[in-house]
Amino acid sequence: MPMTLSAAAQAPTLKLEQDQDGAAIEVLLDHAFGPGRFTKVSERVREIAEFRQDLSFCAWDGGRLVGCVRMTRIAIGDTEAMFLGPLAVEEDVRKFGTGGLLVQAACDAAQAAGFANVLLVGDEPYFSRFGFAAAPAKAVRLPGPVDQLRVLVRALREGGADCLSGLVTAPLP
Ligand SMILES: CC(C)(COP(=O)(O)OP(=O)(O)OC[C@H]1O[C@@H](n2cnc3c(N)ncnc32)[C@H](O)[C@@H]1OP(=O)(O)O)[C@@H](O)C(=O)NCCC(=O)NCCS
Repeated sequence: MPMTLSAAAQAPTLKLEQDQDGAAIEVLLDHAFGPGRFTKVSERVREIAEFRQDLSFCAWDGGRLVGCVRMTRIAIGDTEAMFLGPLAVEEDVRKFGTGGLLVQAACDAAQAAGFANVLLVGDEPYFSRFGFAAAPAKAVRLPGPVDQLRVLVRALREGGADCLSGLVTAPLP
């Protein structure tokens, strides 16, 4: 039976992630990615990255968490970068633009914080609408096996994604 979406679900409220959101986020990520999520190369990146809760967002339908995006700080070679992910939206409220709102909010926050670029692992056919592309990330190496065509980058300022190359490592101090 199709679910009836509330008006709020179609226009979720975006808020910065709070400490107490962690448990609900874990449930949402289990729904979106399943148990295999911990084997992804993105998890290897997040293990060495610095979590930036101040740039990470949750989408709320009233009291229900319906989406989230997290941002972490990394280095690519000797260049500072942001890493976007995980991004997830609950299945019954997809295709209402929530994923797009979350990506845009996280990128806007990273840009306002002075970061020059955002890297992620995802499908270019989805993320290209937000300015992400594989070509400028072709010389970026992740700490594990990955389809290089899924390694995408978006410049947050002019030239911000130029000459990115090397291994993704822990952020510079
Ligand atoms: C990807 C995801 C976050 C999108 O959330 P959403 O709220 O539906 O996103 P939006 O409403 O902004 O965009 C929906 C559009 O993107 C399309 N889309 C979604 N995933 C896509 C993909 N992997 N490749 C191409 N297009 C995709 C949808 O078909 C829809 O197209 P339409 O507008 O023509 O109907 C959601 O599908 C999800 O949680 N997926 C599982 C987890 C995941 O894959 N996360 C991304 C990798 S980190």
